[in-house]
Amino acid sequence: MRDGPAADKVTIRIEPDGLHFDGQVGDQLLTRLRELYYGRSGRPAFPGCRNGGCGYCKVELLEGEVMHGDAYSRGALPDEERLKGRILMCQVHLLGDVVIRLLPKDDPLARLLQKLKAQTHNQGRFNSDG
Ligand code: FES
Repeated sequence: MRDGPAADKVTIRIEPDGLHFDGQVGDQLLTRLRELYYGRSGRPAFPGCRNGGCGYCKVELLEGEVMHGDAYSRGALPDEERLKGRILMCQVHLLGDVVIRLLPKDDPLARLLQKLKAQTHNQGRFNSDG
């Protein structure tokens, strides 16, 4: 049996980019990512409500177990989506290691790829028009 702070250490991995961060059992997931992920390395600050109302923090839980609160809007996370493994990070406390996948609206890389795709498409139109 492990004792001390190391026993409570967990890893949060974010897909699709594979970034990972340390946390502790009991940490509130969104709070931890606001400390370590959002607003850093060119990423925008987290814009959501932080109280279960907007759904902006919705992600897919790929691996791990979490404690998910129940005081949130079903408009933000319908029961059908929760049954499929989606969670609201602002409602989650960590129980162990987790792997999450950001949904497209929350994923800076997906936004950048969409922007580049649109620019490439527009350049192609200009080139073909002469
Ligand atoms: S930040 Fe709005 S629902 Fe989580």
